Amino acid sequence: MKYILLFAVCSYGIALSYAKGNFYDGFKMYEVSMMNRSAARGLDYSTLSNNNSYYEVFSRNGVAAHILVHPDAQPDFLKLLNANTMNYKIVHNDVGLWLKHDFEMNQKLRNLYPYQGKLGTERYYSHAEINQFIEDLAKQNPTRVEVKTVGKSFEGRWLKTIRITNGDGRANKNVILVDGGFHAREWISPAAVVYGINELVNNYEAHAQLLQDYDWVILPVVNADGYEYTQISPDTRMWRKTRQPSSADCIGIDPNRNFDFHWNETGASSDPCSQTYAGPKAFSEPEAIVVRDLIHSLADRGKMYLTVHSYGNYILYPWGYIDLLPDTWEDLDEVGRAGGDAIKAATGTIYQVGCSTQLMYPAAGASDDYAFNAGFPISFTMELPAGGDNNFDPPPADIDRLVKETWVGIVAMAQKVVEKYPLN
Ligand SMILES: *[C@@H]1O[C@H](CO)[C@@H](O)[C@H](O)[C@H]1NC(C)=O
Ligand SMILES: *[C@@H]1O[C@H](CO)[C@@H](O)[C@H](O)[C@H]1NC(C)=O
Ligand SMILES: *[C@@H]1O[C@H](CO)[C@@H](O)[C@H](O)[C@H]1NC(C)=O
Ligand SMILES: [Zn+2]
Repeated sequence: MKYILLFAVCSYGIALSYAKGNFYDGFKMYEVSMMNRSAARGLDYSTLSNNNSYYEVFSRNGVAAHILVHPDAQPDFLKLLNANTMNYKIVHNDVGLWLKHDFEMNQKLRNLYPYQGKLGTERYYSHAEINQFIEDLAKQNPTRVEVKTVGKSFEGRWLKTIRITNGDGRANKNVILVDGGFHAREWISPAAVVYGINELVNNYEAHAQLLQDYDWVILPVVNADGYEYTQISPDTRMWRKTRQPSSADCIGIDPNRNFDFHWNETGASSDPCSQTYAGPKAFSEPEAIVVRDLIHSLADRGKMYLTVHSYGNYILYPWGYIDLLPDTWEDLDEVGRAGGDAIKAATGTIYQVGCSTQLMYPAAGASDDYAFNAGFPISFTMELPAGGDNNFDPPPADIDRLVKETWVGIVAMAQKVVEKYPLN
């Protein structure tokens, strides 16, 4: 059997065979209650995750797991659920159908709202549009905005950062480094990062305090190839990894397991077909190298590194590679809680704030641990809320609400950072 398409949440993963028609036709999404923990243990999630031709395990937040199941695995899976007397419901009877529906809606909105020099929150944008947008901002605001080409993706897309200042020309300010789009299918991430760029550039008076002694450097789409790939058809919507071939049959490395800090230890896979494949070596991915080099070039001035993912409503801090807190965890916790509290006050949305390994699962070789170890005193992975049918698909009508809510949290964290780490 040939498995050429793969796709999972921020961490676990399915490699699947191609069929005619829509790839996900006949796939079902189950929600399995984990309230009964002794029963939940009977269902071996890592065995399911490792069997990535048939299953993909999405969120395991202690309350429920979402499990995507291949049509051929339905009888086995039901047997497994019944053997463990698990409570479950079928969230989606035909995953292919809703992916097709979402795809058509996104195409329609793309035609309805072509790029005209601004990126609003009506729809999701392509990597090329996001690059064009930051270039246009730089042209319109030459004293406050600088765009820099920082590298090239595996397929040759230019990766560009935008540096936003208040235009006073002072050098050597502290730095906040933000990136989005590490994982291809997490579309709300680049959308939230682009919203923040818009705010910092076009609404800069309101953020004067955040730009006084700090510059912001932002890479909106790290995994540009993967992000583009998710936009070309319903069959590719669930892609997570990069697009560099990883074996004869599989494509893609998890860029957020590819960093050279406890690389290929826990929570990363050495199976090239897995969604969390760490790669043949650390920094095998040009996209991870770009982020590495940004981190090092800014580390002496960098005070906060923030990488935006989805989903799960988490603000996560190191360590991710081991179940241990760094000595300075109270600083991380204080800043993270400022974000979580601000979001809760603004919209009621609850974020959990804490160490990655304790709140989610270990994930060695991720960019947040790397940046923290390289000298950023504050380093977070923010997991934005789930939305839509596949959880990675907040409907376009929800983009506005979600990106505004996210920005409230980012601003609160940045304010706390500015207060805690004044310019020397
Ligand atoms: C949890 O599930 C087990 C079966 O796996 C069952 O024996 C037990 O009674 C359940 N506990 C509760 C509280 O429902
Ligand atoms: C993977 O799952 C399928 C479908 O349930 C099953 O037939 C197969 O034996 C499993 N493979 C492994 C290695 O567990
Ligand atoms: C990654 O770790 C696994 C498990 O320890 C090991 O089998 C594999 O060889 C490692 N991969 C590389 C490229 O070192
Ligand atoms: Zn992610």
